[in-house]
Amino acid sequence: MKLKRILKWSSGLVVLALVLWLFIAYWMSTNDCNRNAAAPSNPMKAIRYCEYGSPDVVKLENVEKPVPNDNQVLIKVRAASLNALDAYLIRDSWLGRLMFGLRKPRDTRLGRDVAGQVEAIGKSVTQFKPGDEVFGLCRGTLAEYAVAFERALVIKPASVSFEQAASLPIAGLTAIQGLREGKIQPGQKVLVNGATGGVGTFAVQVAKSFGTEVTAVCSTRNVDLVRSIGADHIIDYTKEDFTKGDQHYDVLFDNVCNHSFFERRRVLTPKGICVLAGMGGAGVKGSEAIGRIASNLFTARGLSAFTDQKFAQYITKMNKEDLIMLADLIQEGKLRPVIERTYKLNNAPEALRYLAEGHARGKIVITTE
Ligand SMILES: NC(=O)c1ccc[n+]([C@@H]2O[C@H](COP(=O)([O-])OP(=O)(O)OC[C@H]3O[C@@H](n4cnc5c(N)ncnc54)[C@H](OP(=O)(O)O)[C@@H]3O)[C@@H](O)[C@H]2O)c1
Repeated sequence: MKLKRILKWSSGLVVLALVLWLFIAYWMSTNDCNRNAAAPSNPMKAIRYCEYGSPDVVKLENVEKPVPNDNQVLIKVRAASLNALDAYLIRDSWLGRLMFGLRKPRDTRLGRDVAGQVEAIGKSVTQFKPGDEVFGLCRGTLAEYAVAFERALVIKPASVSFEQAASLPIAGLTAIQGLREGKIQPGQKVLVNGATGGVGTFAVQVAKSFGTEVTAVCSTRNVDLVRSIGADHIIDYTKEDFTKGDQHYDVLFDNVCNHSFFERRRVLTPKGICVLAGMGGAGVKGSEAIGRIASNLFTARGLSAFTDQKFAQYITKMNKEDLIMLADLIQEGKLRPVIERTYKLNNAPEALRYLAEGHARGKIVITTE
């Protein structure tokens, strides 16, 4: 009797401690929006979001110009590009709150892809000097200035524009690294599902540059676009389901992941690889995204362990050689970044609103001048 009562009390205490911990964690999770009420001493314009919500929460504000650490480079941003990630960061979803801040977003900056001029360098930086034109990855690129680690930047070739260079990092790396996960070989048949977004337009062209035969899946309005970037075959997903066709593919590069494991297996060759790149772009709803992530994880880590057809999941990583390879492909005329719209920094909220609709064609670029 006594033991039962002790157990009851202790489990009650555990629940109470958990609730208290959640409550404290929730209130402690804040950002610098209210703290930095004083006017910045060395101001620059930057895009910030202090709350989760619609793209209306995104504002252009005066903030403190960043100062590079020893191994960082201060970049005068000339162009930045948006990715599906930027739309997910703003959106109010419980998964987003768990990852990016329970009550408010921890990091109020937006933008990852950057191209610009080196303004200043930290004292340990050896590969760059002021005036160099660079591109790569860092945080808070929707701003007049951003700081990047030396390891996350490469020199921009003169013949590649700032807009083109800014379109490359996340989407281009996702395409190239995903196709590598698919062990792509010349002469193979590759299908790109979701061929018209930021990642898809690069995946089609990079796959073509490997000497493969590419089938692009897109909607009716984008048929001409995928043809113009070199797709050999086109499947309009509003009229035809590619998983019901007779064709088999060595690599299925899936940006959308809107078909089951068995449906996708059906159209893979016996040793084919399905690369699980994404889950439908910036427009996919929070609950839908969670379902697709969970089923992809189960597919990649569970189901596909028992078959010769593999389902590969990966997280895109910064890689200088890959960025250089993408810029080289542009210079060789084998890659043409598809930039659907370019917005000025003060119109970034409008750009994010458009991206969040989920029907962007290629990349959306933000320029500072
Ligand atoms: N693995 C990683 O580390 C990694 C890195 C970066 C991105 N990603 C993921 O990759 C995915 C694609 O990113 P993104 O930048 O390309 O997104 P995006 O630019 O927002 O994608 C939008 C495109 O998706 C197409 N689309 C939407 N529903 C479709 C469907 N049912 N079938 C075919 N196409 C469809 C749209 O075409 P329509 O207008 O014709 O519908 C639109 O062109 C995202 O889920 C993103 O999170 C993953």
